Amino acid sequence: MPTLNDIRSTFLGYFEKQGHKVVPSSPLVPRNDPTLMFTNSGMVQFKNLFTGVETRDYKRATTAQKCVRAGGKHNDLDNVGYTARHHTFFEMLGNFSFGDYFKQDAIPFAWELITRELDIPKDRLLVTVYHTDDEAAEIWKKVAGLSDDRIIRIPTNDNFWMMGPTGPCGPCTEIFFDHGDKYWGGPPGSPEEDGDRFVEIWNLVFMQNEQFEDGSMRALDAQSIDTGMGIERVAALLQGTNDNYATDLIRALIEASADETSTDPDGPGKTHHRVIADHLRSTSFLIADGVMPSNDGRGYVLRRIMRRAMRHAHMLGARDPVMYRLVPALVRQMGAAYPELVRAQALIEETLKLEETRFKQTLDRGLKLLDDELTGLGDGAKLPGEAAFKLYDTYGFPLDLTQDALRERGREVETAGFDAAMAEQKAKARAAWSGSGEAADLAIWFDIAETHGATDFLGYDTETAEGQMLALVRDGKAVEALEAGESGWIVLNQTPFYGESGGQVGDTGWLRRLENEGDVAEVTATQKMGGGKVFAHQVTVTSGRFARGEAVALEVDHDRRSAIRANHSATHLLHEALRRALGDHVAQRGSLNAPDRLRFDFSHAKALSPQEIAQVEREVNAFIRQNSPVTTRIMTPDDARAIGAQALFGEKYGDEVRVVSMGALPGSGKGADGQTYSLELCGGTHVAQTGDIGTFALTSETASSAGVRRIEALTGEAAMSELRGRDLVLGEVEGLVKSRGADVVARVAALLDERKALSNEVAQLRRELAMAGGAGQGGGVDVRDVAGVRFVAQVLSGVSGKDLPPLIDEHKGRLGTGVVLLIADADGKAAVAAGVTEDLTGKVSAVDVVKAAVGALGGKGGGGRPDLAQGGAKDISRSDEAIRAAEAVLEG
Ligand code: SER
Repeated sequence: MPTLNDIRSTFLGYFEKQGHKVVPSSPLVPRNDPTLMFTNSGMVQFKNLFTGVETRDYKRATTAQKCVRAGGKHNDLDNVGYTARHHTFFEMLGNFSFGDYFKQDAIPFAWELITRELDIPKDRLLVTVYHTDDEAAEIWKKVAGLSDDRIIRIPTNDNFWMMGPTGPCGPCTEIFFDHGDKYWGGPPGSPEEDGDRFVEIWNLVFMQNEQFEDGSMRALDAQSIDTGMGIERVAALLQGTNDNYATDLIRALIEASADETSTDPDGPGKTHHRVIADHLRSTSFLIADGVMPSNDGRGYVLRRIMRRAMRHAHMLGARDPVMYRLVPALVRQMGAAYPELVRAQALIEETLKLEETRFKQTLDRGLKLLDDELTGLGDGAKLPGEAAFKLYDTYGFPLDLTQDALRERGREVETAGFDAAMAEQKAKARAAWSGSGEAADLAIWFDIAETHGATDFLGYDTETAEGQMLALVRDGKAVEALEAGESGWIVLNQTPFYGESGGQVGDTGWLRRLENEGDVAEVTATQKMGGGKVFAHQVTVTSGRFARGEAVALEVDHDRRSAIRANHSATHLLHEALRRALGDHVAQRGSLNAPDRLRFDFSHAKALSPQEIAQVEREVNAFIRQNSPVTTRIMTPDDARAIGAQALFGEKYGDEVRVVSMGALPGSGKGADGQTYSLELCGGTHVAQTGDIGTFALTSETASSAGVRRIEALTGEAAMSELRGRDLVLGEVEGLVKSRGADVVARVAALLDERKALSNEVAQLRRELAMAGGAGQGGGVDVRDVAGVRFVAQVLSGVSGKDLPPLIDEHKGRLGTGVVLLIADADGKAAVAAGVTEDLTGKVSAVDVVKAAVGALGGKGGGGRPDLAQGGAKDISRSDEAIRAAEAVLEG
């Protein structure tokens, strides 16, 4: 009996033999679809190959694609556990031709695979074709020898496959298996077709058209093939059952669930085990693909699935968290085919454990409230919407979880009341916000957040994606479109662009319209708005018109983001290196992670010594060279702190935080395992390996404010050019002072000492020269008698203003009694000083003398004491007039 893993290998192996490339499953979060919540069929990753927008180096491909159908249009969540074939997670096997073979080959391939490779008995098979597709019917007749009553023509859209309202599409043919008359049901197209007897196992789509928004359709240039086989259904029939949950892989998970809860897998808890087995698959694969539980978007769908499984585990009597203990069983079953599951195992376990631990804290009380509410209700009455809302709001019960709980009791929720209570809560939150004094022009962002919910951030895993434009803003107002040349803001349903936060600058890059990739808007900044929920891309439209509702391809500027990443990761290493060098009091006070540099402010009272700086720089570089992987985990803030993660003091964190670890420290470190060098709470983007940082160069260490130091540093290429630049400068200095290395320091110090001695000597000589009659004047000093007062006046050059007071003193000493006026030519300006000997200060004030001289030189002011005053003016050429003006003061 083939196992599910055997069937997958047989399928891929068969098509590989037929010249198909085995392509890995694409992630569950579609990178190339703007509107799809989760990948829900094999063709999603090939969408653009069918329309001809994209080509690859292969024309035939085969995949085992992981798919999730929960939330959004295809939502099977409510039925899972209660039926034989509903899943939130399933695998789709497919073969694809991109303009290569068409139905003439696709049908024989399918027939050979199922009847020869998988040995499914021919007489149990029948097929459907689109009612006008005579060609397909003919091929079936010829290839399979099926009689006409086993080739059923279906006139409805069931046999015309479309991926959505737009996109590639075409007629299809479906292969059905007849499980026999022990099951109720009729063949496809009959009134009993929904029964369990005839089960569709494979859908072959003949891609030949493309559907547009206005309803029109064009014929594709090339005809292609897209097929999808539900592996769980085929496993069921090959294993002699029609219940997917009885197949080997899912059964193993059900048994693990039974073991962990010590219950009977087939007893009264049967449905619970089925729910748990299914939800274990979807939640684990979603977490492995980067989805984290949250209250919005994809994260909320994940949370709803997790909590639904957790309630069912609770009903099995499990007192402690169960889901995370089932992950090893899943990895055993599926890890070989999907290595991402193995890589993410620890993250999956931690995330499930955290969610289940927290949910359990309110689950009992919530279920009790539900019971109390139901007691008073009449037969068949609906649960009031307000009660369901209270369960949601206070106890964390998503609406579908309450509905699931009521289903067992044959009741429903009065959803209108639930919606009204939800709307009222939003209105209250809004009113509270409007009263908080935020600027009115920010209101638009809260409107957008309320209408469209949070933007899904994809940027931890990818730098490119497609998204749908939900809102455009220009000059603070919502607009329908931005035209070429205009600037404004664009909000999309999802984005790989990081919104500025936590010190990390926002991303820049490009948006291109999918309809016409030549239409480009340049993203110049990305900000988080509306309370941090909405990512707003600041754009300038270079060409084309960007309108609401349209889809765009988003591309982050890769080089810039790589540099930002390196700087952010280096900041974490720097933080830890500082703590180890200076002590545990070192705490982050602020940071900037830009593409060209990083800045880190931290608490520390005094400047770092050169040795401390060298030690920090050396340690950061040592961990860069270690090139160990950088990992991210999700925890509660308390758990994160408990294992020693660094958090910003006073910062408010959400219910869950990302903990970024880097650097391996065998044996002696801090952190949960004693092995992690740096552990920090952080929402930013980081390098994959510490080696990606390249190099770290500390460029400055200064005071930022009292008790806070600031370090600036560079990484990667910028650090290299900084170091090279410093080296070049040193080389030039070495050449100039004719020494090398450490000798340069002694040489420069000696030169500086020499310079100081020389300048003292020069000053002394200038003074002596001045006393001897003034530089460039020749002759001695002329002492005149003005109104009975001994008066000396001198115009000096090569003397600065600060040299004047000592000269005045010297003159006064020589005069014994008298008045001195000195005018110095300081770079074309005049510095003026006057001195009056003590005995004369009652008669003449130096201040008046200076003021008069300064006035004559075209200046203003001057001041000091009666015995010594100074001033300045612009025009040295009128010094004779200045001397006369001074004399006039003496003359009275
Ligand atoms: N796209 C088709 C389906 O989902 C066949 O793969 O059924």
